[in-house]
Amino acid sequence: MSLPLYNYNDSDKADPEVTEYRGLPTHYTLPSGAQIPSVALGVWQAQKGEVGAAVKTALDAGYRHIDGAWAYRNEKEVGDALKESGVKREDVWLTSKLWNTFHAPEDVEPALDESLKKFRPLAVPKNGTPANYDKDLTENPYPTWQKLEEMVEKGKVKNIGISNFNIRRIQNLTANPLKVQPAVNQVEINFWFPQVELLEFSKKTGLLLEAYSPLGSTQRVKDSLNVPEVTQMTPAQVLISWHVQRGTITLPKSVTPSRVIENIHLKKLPDATFDKIEAAARAHKPERGLNPSKAWGLDWDIFE
Ligand SMILES: NC(=O)c1ccc[n+]([C@@H]2O[C@H](COP(=O)([O-])OP(=O)(O)OC[C@H]3O[C@@H](n4cnc5c(N)ncnc54)[C@H](OP(=O)(O)O)[C@@H]3O)[C@@H](O)[C@H]2O)c1
Repeated sequence: MSLPLYNYNDSDKADPEVTEYRGLPTHYTLPSGAQIPSVALGVWQAQKGEVGAAVKTALDAGYRHIDGAWAYRNEKEVGDALKESGVKREDVWLTSKLWNTFHAPEDVEPALDESLKKFRPLAVPKNGTPANYDKDLTENPYPTWQKLEEMVEKGKVKNIGISNFNIRRIQNLTANPLKVQPAVNQVEINFWFPQVELLEFSKKTGLLLEAYSPLGSTQRVKDSLNVPEVTQMTPAQVLISWHVQRGTITLPKSVTPSRVIENIHLKKLPDATFDKIEAAARAHKPERGLNPSKAWGLDWDIFE
């Protein structure tokens, strides 16, 4: 993969010379040696008919990382937009996710094939009944992971990561003789739920975190942008810069062209500003914004 182009100056155009956003890294290096862009366009809840345009705006603005998933039901439009953009496929880091109801080893490859093809129209995925959510595989996902390792060996995917893993689950997985270490762990991280313990653990163990819902998601984005410590640049740029400055990848979602562009114009925050936001984020009780366990009818917490 060649290095993506990035916005760096305050223009709306990608600048081929850029390797950092005014003091913040545009990429992190994974244990595999791959370079993963530090900011992605998130496309969860980006509707059909709008997600393609958002992807094109993002690619034009210099994003080279799209955070998708089978369950977002828009992979086909994302795939089409990628093709139509003229940006080379190998220059874009595309993330998909194996949905919870496909963790049985025999379900892994068909689910991956479906994502790979589409990025083609989906039979609308069922979220599954509680019985499809395998508690044992959620707790100890080694059998699923072995199948994913096979997908890497076959060349169907380049890197494999985990999502919504707490420290115990990471330890459960990595206690096994893994052939491929998890590249990243994608979890909710935002001002309201700064994941201080997980961030410290991840820095120690070298497992890169990806911050999803970095602006607090649709429900809390307004509250996030009104945090008093967030005063420089636009509030969204301050928060997204704060995430990268904490050493995580960050996945802001927007389908509003001006915001898509705004969200990749980052800058290292002065230490005092960074410390103030960090202290304020740690000063309240951590509040996770997203936990679908009840909505999925589970009598156990899928994140605990
Ligand atoms: N692995 C997982 O379980 C998981 C779970 C949740 C999310 N994710 C990933 O993380 C991504 C981001 O999370 P999210 O969508 O929950 O939340 P988010 O990015 O924190 O917030 C998205 C909301 O913020 C608004 N917004 C974006 N930029 C803005 C700006 N500059 N100024 C004002 N408002 C702005 C968006 O509105 P408009 O779009 O209308 O502009 C949307 O309402 C998802 O899209 C997905 O890729 C992963």
